[in-house]
Amino acid sequence: MQERESGTALVIGGTSGLGLELATLLHSKNNFGVYVTGREKPENEQIKFIHLNIGPDTNLLPSRINNIISDLPQTDLLVYAAGFYQEGSMKQLTDEDITKMVNVGLVAPMLILNRILNRQNKLPGVMAITSTSQWTPRIDEPIYTAVKAGFGMFANSLSLDPQVGKVLVAGPAGMKTNFWLETEKDTSNMLEPAWVAKQIYQLYFEDNFKYKCVRILREPPRIEILENRIA
Ligand SMILES: NC(=O)c1ccc[n+]([C@@H]2O[C@H](COP(=O)([O-])OP(=O)(O)OC[C@H]3O[C@@H](n4cnc5c(N)ncnc54)[C@H](OP(=O)(O)O)[C@@H]3O)[C@@H](O)[C@H]2O)c1
Repeated sequence: MQERESGTALVIGGTSGLGLELATLLHSKNNFGVYVTGREKPENEQIKFIHLNIGPDTNLLPSRINNIISDLPQTDLLVYAAGFYQEGSMKQLTDEDITKMVNVGLVAPMLILNRILNRQNKLPGVMAITSTSQWTPRIDEPIYTAVKAGFGMFANSLSLDPQVGKVLVAGPAGMKTNFWLETEKDTSNMLEPAWVAKQIYQLYFEDNFKYKCVRILREPPRIEILENRIA
C-alpha cells in the first residue's frame, strides 16, 4: 500500500539543479507529494512532472498557470527556483530577452502566488530562490540582477500577508548546474547544488520564522543570515 503523503510541494523550476535537489529532499525527508515544473522531465519517478514553458509572450502565461494551479491539490509549500543565465548589456538585449527574463523572474511567480491564494486562501510556506546577484549590480546582467532583487522584495512583502506562512528568501552564489551549460564559465569552484539544497531545507524547517533572508556564499561555502523575523 502506498504511504500517505504529508502535504504538497510545488517546485517551479524543479526539473534540474537546485530545484530538483530541493524537490528530492522534500519528497524523501518530509514525504511531501512533490510536483516540479519545467520544460524537460527529470528522471525521477517519485516526483510528478508538469510541463511549463515560460516564454517571452506574457499573454500566454495566465492560462498556462491557471490550468496548473486548478489541477493541483492544495499547495503547502511553493518553491520558486526557475531562472536562467542571460548575458548582454542593456543595448544588446532584445525585447524577447527582456520580456522572457521578466516573465521567468517576476511575472510567473506573481501569477502563481495570486492563483494559489485565490484558490486556497492560505499558503503555509514559500521558498524564494534569488541569487547573490540580488545584491550585486552587473553591467552584463541588468535584467537578471533586477528580477532577482525585485523577486526578493516581492517575497519580503508577501511575508507580511496574513494568508502566507513562512517565507524564506535564499540567494545562492554560483552553483555547478545547467544554468551555465551554454557558457564557457569555469564552474569548478562553484557550490554543489545538493549542499545548497540541504542548507535551504535546514534553514526553512529549523525554526518558526515569518521571514528569513539568507545569502549562501562560496569559497568557503557558508551561510549569512541577513534577516530573521518571527512575526
Ligand atoms: N547556478 C548558479 O550559479 C546560480 C547562482 C545563483 C542563483 N541561481 C538561481 O538558482 C535557481 C536554480 O537554478 P540552477 O542553478 O539550479 O539552474 P538549472 O539547473 O538550469 O535550473 C533552472 C530551472 O529553471 C527552469 N527554467 C529555466 N528557464 C525556464 C523557462 N523559460 N520556462 C520554464 N522553466 C524554466 C528549468 O527547467 P527546464 O530546463 O526543464 O525548462 C530548471 O528547472 C535559478 O533561479 C537561478 O537563477 C543559480
